[in-house]
Amino acid sequence: MSKAGSKPRIAIFISGRGSNMVSLVEAMQAGSVDAVPAVVISNQPEAKGVVRSATLGVSCEVVCRDQFLNHREFECKIIEILTRYQIDWIALAGYMAILGPIVLSEYSDRIINIHPSLLPAFKGLDAQYQALNYGVKYAGCTVHYVTKDIDGGAIIDQCIVDVKGTDTVETLSARILVAEHQLYPKALQSVIKLTK
Ligand code: GRF
Repeated sequence: MSKAGSKPRIAIFISGRGSNMVSLVEAMQAGSVDAVPAVVISNQPEAKGVVRSATLGVSCEVVCRDQFLNHREFECKIIEILTRYQIDWIALAGYMAILGPIVLSEYSDRIINIHPSLLPAFKGLDAQYQALNYGVKYAGCTVHYVTKDIDGGAIIDQCIVDVKGTDTVETLSARILVAEHQLYPKALQSVIKLTK
């Protein structure tokens, strides 16, 4: 953990493209989020975000579940990295692995996630498809605390995105993503300020 008075240290977990990771890191580097982007953790060695984190000058650690005999050992490795980087907060950004009870209890109330729907609607995978399929007129994104219930933790902030009659999953997802990049840094800053 960071020393009293110093900036909180953030680990960002990714599995893919990493565009939300980039928006968080850039906000911290620009000073609009008062925290340090200490490490990116990916469970996919080939993730685009791995290369993008290097470009931003942020350390990246790859931890794949299939390198470990069981989930406990996988989680212990993650805890070892979080301890080594003195992490205070975890921000999940398109991380597609499940965090187990060890990480959840060690970082209880200190793990946040972004989801591309207005929770509690459309939890889980393909949220933008679910929203279009349901016929909603307003979609959006949510930043929430992470608990053992998938996409079920307390809501921190949300942003509404209008659905157009001509939208496809791709066009709606692209507009929601723009909103995500605004919302996530703002939400991270708000939780950090709350716990100062
Ligand atoms: C985002 O839509 C996020 O809401 C969801 O996964 C996607 C990750 O995109 N959890 P990226 O890797 O941040 O570009």
